[in-house]
Amino acid sequence: MLTQTKTMLLKAKLGNYAVGAFNINNMEIGQAIIEAAEREHAPVICQTSEGSIEYAGMDMLLAIGRELARSSKIPMSLHLDHGKNVDIVKQAIHAGYESVMYDGSSHEFKRNIELTRSIVSLAHSKSISVEAELGAIAGIEDFVSIEDQDANLTNPEQAKEFVKQTKCDFLAIAIGTAHGAYKFTKKSKLDLNRLKEIKKQVKIPLVLHGASSVPKSAVKKIKKYGGDLGKPVGVSNKDLKRAVKLGINKVNTDTDVRLAFTGGVRKLLKKEKDQFDPRKILKPAYEEIVDMVRWKIRLLGSSNKA
Ligand code: G3H
Ligand code: 13P
Ligand code: ZN
Repeated sequence: MLTQTKTMLLKAKLGNYAVGAFNINNMEIGQAIIEAAEREHAPVICQTSEGSIEYAGMDMLLAIGRELARSSKIPMSLHLDHGKNVDIVKQAIHAGYESVMYDGSSHEFKRNIELTRSIVSLAHSKSISVEAELGAIAGIEDFVSIEDQDANLTNPEQAKEFVKQTKCDFLAIAIGTAHGAYKFTKKSKLDLNRLKEIKKQVKIPLVLHGASSVPKSAVKKIKKYGGDLGKPVGVSNKDLKRAVKLGINKVNTDTDVRLAFTGGVRKLLKKEKDQFDPRKILKPAYEEIVDMVRWKIRLLGSSNKA
């Protein structure tokens, strides 16, 4: 059932849990995410990146999103993930996404405020909410020194000023996560004290990007059936649960879905050497995604919150 992202996230903030936001690139991934959310009775956000729009087209993804929402029994919204190109963000606002992310994090503070503020004003005129980003979403190990880390992770005072000036609805913060499967060289490490400080200053829902867990079992399965990802490391269950407890209300996950998909496809192709029906090839991938997303939803505490 189509629901505003803001409605879901404000409810999550009150209930102290996080809504899972999963990236979709095609129909099957979207269907699997919705099936997982239905089986967990959880609200869910499907999001499309600029890369997925380049791959499938905004109209196609919007059509998939609309049909998923129409036929689903749980609250669901379609969100633009990491809109960096202002034209794409405006296109998504006009096309009718429930919410958009404007990612101005590569700009310096004042310019990020200016650009975000103008997107917020357009989006709000159409009752669409906006996620903005402050700080660099890169692993703590990407920073050469403590000073460098401090300059790149979200500054709590700046976050307060940023929200006040932009009037954004949700804020993506940098506390040491990174996108992709190789987030840390050894083990999960987030700056949770920084999250506590940001939470004191910022009253809107907070968003954690780069939150994939990269479960060892998923990496092992890919290896068992012929793949090799080296030594990826994701966010530990303990860190993720703690981040949610400390006030994260939207958790972005794409890599874990990709790992589940890849494990399923590799297994099928290795086991059924004569298979060439795409529907049969994608079935185990679909099931792997359902299991993975259900597990993530439980970790975020949003089961039975639909
Ligand atoms: O934030 C990154 C997401 O995983 C999207 O990745 O740009 O390859 O679609 P993508
Ligand atoms: P992961 O790469 O950790 O799944 O992060 C996805 C993300 O932040 C999408 O915006
Ligand atoms: Zn992200």
